[in-house]
Amino acid sequence: MSEAILLVGGQGTRLRPLTSHTPKPLLPVAGVPFLTHQLARAAAAGVTRIVLATSYLAELFEAEYGNGARLGLELEYVTEETALGTGGAIRNAARRLRSAPGDPVLVFNGDILSGVDIAALRAHHRATGADVTLHLKRVADPRAFGLVPTDADGRVTAFLEKPQTPEEIITDQINAGCYVFTRSVIDRIPPDRVVSVERETFPALLATNAHVRGVVDESYWLDLGTPAAFVQGSADLVRGRVTSPALPGPAGDALVLPGARVHPGALLSGGTVVAAGAVIDEGAVVEGSVVMTGARIGRSATVHASAVGRHARIGTGTSLDAAVIGDGATLAEGNELPPGVRIACGARIPPYSVRLSAPPTPCGQEHHTREHVA
Ligand code: GTP
Repeated sequence: MSEAILLVGGQGTRLRPLTSHTPKPLLPVAGVPFLTHQLARAAAAGVTRIVLATSYLAELFEAEYGNGARLGLELEYVTEETALGTGGAIRNAARRLRSAPGDPVLVFNGDILSGVDIAALRAHHRATGADVTLHLKRVADPRAFGLVPTDADGRVTAFLEKPQTPEEIITDQINAGCYVFTRSVIDRIPPDRVVSVERETFPALLATNAHVRGVVDESYWLDLGTPAAFVQGSADLVRGRVTSPALPGPAGDALVLPGARVHPGALLSGGTVVAAGAVIDEGAVVEGSVVMTGARIGRSATVHASAVGRHARIGTGTSLDAAVIGDGATLAEGNELPPGVRIACGARIPPYSVRLSAPPTPCGQEHHTREHVA
């Protein structure tokens, strides 16, 4: 038996309004809920039992996956009444582990698309006898991440969360959100309170001279926490730039799921995915985008690097760039949205009339500024 904990309890605030009704790990990425890719990769690496640490919209996870048999996994669900943070969630989920104190337990953030060799990471952990082994990535701009410098032997020497000043940026290695814990180390995390594994647990382990290792690799890696990364991750899966056993079709320039209707005069490219029940009309150009269940892209509309929510309507000739369109929103014909706009779930934008400069806000709290564009 090989066990893992998957952290899926976050609110996904940066992806609102897509996450207003759907937790981030269940958003469709390359045609299936993102979590399905992660579960399938874990199963392929020999993981047999996974405890999902849920909180936000918790009931939707069990409704989607049940006991996990469909994926060849045994799944358990542990729900936090109030979110316990990453470390608190790991400790709480550990109540349902069956591993012995010395066994390795994998822990995954539920929003990382990665090609890491999970089995090799676990084997490295065992071979070195570490207390915790972290997957690390090298990135060009590490300011948004937790820095994890290592010595020549691969031992972690510090944890620096979200460095701001140049002096603080002492490495380009970041915490990639995938860990192997020796089970007994999880059991030492304080129970029943909020704990950040990044800010509290890992630094405390170093302070007590625990054996904490980092493994840097060159595999694909993307944190799907922002709208831009979300659509990019989906497009990269569709184009085969990162592989997943759960991709529901051959890799290519676009993925059209059964039950979608695409007019022969429409153009799909850049790893676009069109979900079941969605309709793409004549002359529409959809590039590098995620079109969700039941959405409609009207005639000659252009959609670039955008996420179009369930049952949303994009009118004739309307153009979107890096937009996030909430479930059920309607953009009537002839609108041209500035890049990066988010439209609230259910919003209605009249024809030829509206430009939006909306800050990221949850459903129902959008503020519209209107000006005529034509
Ligand atoms: P943002 O609100 O946009 O930052 O997203 P998020 O809520 O997912 O937070 P973040 O990206 O920092 O979380 C990293 C991972 O940990 C994600 O997979 C979250 O689902 C998960 N996570 C964060 N906080 C909690 C928590 O309190 N409980 C549980 N169970 N999981 C959590």
